[in-house]
Amino acid sequence: MLTTAVIGLGYWGPNLVRNLAVSPRTRAAWICDRSPGRLDAVGAHFPAAARAEDPAAVLADPEVDAVVIATPVATHHALARAALLAGKHVLVEKPLAATAEQAEELRELAERRGLVLLVDHVFLYSPAVRKLAQLVAAGDLGEPLFIDSVRINLGLVQHDVDVVWDLAPHDLAIIDHLVGRVPDSVVAIGASHSGGGPVDGAHLHLDYGAGLHAAIHVSWLSPVKIRSFLLGGTRRSVLYNDLDAAERLKVYDRGIEVTEALSPEGRRELLVSYRSGDVVAPRLDSAEPLALLVEHFADCIEKDVPPLSGGDQGLRVVRVLEAAQRSRAAAGERVAV
Ligand SMILES: NC(=O)c1ccc[n+]([C@@H]2O[C@H](COP(=O)([O-])OP(=O)(O)OC[C@H]3O[C@@H](n4cnc5c(N)ncnc54)[C@H](O)[C@@H]3O)[C@@H](O)[C@H]2O)c1
Repeated sequence: MLTTAVIGLGYWGPNLVRNLAVSPRTRAAWICDRSPGRLDAVGAHFPAAARAEDPAAVLADPEVDAVVIATPVATHHALARAALLAGKHVLVEKPLAATAEQAEELRELAERRGLVLLVDHVFLYSPAVRKLAQLVAAGDLGEPLFIDSVRINLGLVQHDVDVVWDLAPHDLAIIDHLVGRVPDSVVAIGASHSGGGPVDGAHLHLDYGAGLHAAIHVSWLSPVKIRSFLLGGTRRSVLYNDLDAAERLKVYDRGIEVTEALSPEGRRELLVSYRSGDVVAPRLDSAEPLALLVEHFADCIEKDVPPLSGGDQGLRVVRVLEAAQRSRAAAGERVAV
């Protein structure tokens, strides 16, 4: 059984503690937060866990195999670096770090020390995205043509990061998982509506080359919650609606067929016809993505399974976030990744 410690017990950390405590493969031996109030609140549910306000106490414990970091983004690099230098495997929240340079250093350090570095790109572990990835890999959708992802709601406005760094890592990680590469270029436009606060609504346009384009809309201001991810392919298209618990994925055998013909005057014309076939909702498991992530983390450490969302992917996602930041600062100029 792996002995783990969770640093950061704010909004998200307790979900990690719960899954680590429940899994038969891991033990939540330490909980750590610099706020004594958070330690008390979370510690009340996990009395067996030792408590620390200072991460150094956790890192000094030779019994700890792995450290899970759920603190604000600006702290990810220093904490993950210290944990890796202390010889611990690391599971870090998204995004991996606040800059690509920091992400690269963590990726290299983990590799050099032979330690697992996993990023909590949690949606990759959801049964819906797993199925979607299978459909793409099996060629069932044909060539991907476009992706349209909307992740908007009345969100928890963050103070240290804007909405792009907060929400878009999810979409970028899903797309990275499906297409396996960074886009050639990014255009980002966003605005802040809170008097000089962080950008709270943004649109990203990503050009992946080979005809594939992706659009991502993220916002903390929408009165309605939408989590929809549409992937259009040359053969079929898939709608992933994370809020539709009964039918999260729908595969549409619909699209257009374009053929060429000669007009009566002998000119070449494009003929467009519409294909309107079945709509199928594949059966999906109901497992909690975070539980599957914890399971995968244990597999990476104990069985040398290659990380699904390791340092390489974490770095690619941060590189796109940085390019988006540069584009937005330049009022939507197209920026190469
Ligand atoms: N994967 C997901 O779906 C998901 C969802 C929400 C948040 N997150 C990520 O989780 C991380 C935390 O987000 P949150 O919303 O829980 O933030 P939060 O502000 O609610 O909690 C952060 C906690 O970390 C503690 N902390 C900060 N610096 C520390 C340090 N140096 N040592 C010890 N404790 C420290 C704070 O006291 C606080 O309790 C972020 O990286 C965020 O992007 C991921």
